[in-house]
Amino acid sequence: MKSSNSPILAPSILAADHAELCRGLQAVAEAHNSWVHLDIMDGHFVPNLSFGPGTVQALRQRDGQLFFDTHLMLSRPDQYIEAFTDAGSQQITIHIEPEYDVAGTLRDIKQRGLKCGLALNPGTEAAAVKDLLPLVDLVLVMTVWPGFGGQSFIEDTLPKMQQLSQWRTEKNYHFRLEVDGGINLETGRRCFEAGADTFVAGTAFFKADDSDAFRREFESF
Ligand code: DX5
Ligand code: ZN
Repeated sequence: MKSSNSPILAPSILAADHAELCRGLQAVAEAHNSWVHLDIMDGHFVPNLSFGPGTVQALRQRDGQLFFDTHLMLSRPDQYIEAFTDAGSQQITIHIEPEYDVAGTLRDIKQRGLKCGLALNPGTEAAAVKDLLPLVDLVLVMTVWPGFGGQSFIEDTLPKMQQLSQWRTEKNYHFRLEVDGGINLETGRRCFEAGADTFVAGTAFFKADDSDAFRREFESF
């Protein structure tokens, strides 16, 4: 069941050169993207560390236009909402898996005037987030186990997208359905057919010969 939301590509700068992150941000902007995806990792919820609010703030000072789609892969994201809000995020996505007040944190994000998203790892069933769907602006279906870019797309996440897309239609929700991990034009199109409308691509975006054309392909799904 395809989405009624317009397709958006959200390049992840996790795949950019971390010695020159703002060049990666520039490349996202120069390819006329409206979103950039910021992967924040704590080395606890996921087995890797990436960057924090200070880096996000520095990037925000370099670019005031891009929509900062901030993906918190943290065990306690509730403790960092203020910091990432102050750093310039416009959307904050939190994971359902760790032990903390998920609903309260979603409400906190919204009360700060940001969009809120809820992310599910490949092993988490759609049913785990069903009751929270009325609260969210975005659901992020991880299509790899989070922690590293450049992994292969996990096929059996497709039925989860279909299920979420069906509930969205049935209940007339308007959340965006985002996918993240191993997304290229081929896997992205399959996710689109399953109901996704927002596509995180790190490796594929930064490897593209023509990143503007790459973006246009997604937007024309
Ligand atoms: C979680 C990260 C990655 C990244 C995209 O590990 O969220 O999925 O954004 O990785 P690529 O597009 O390089 O597979
Ligand atoms: Zn991500």
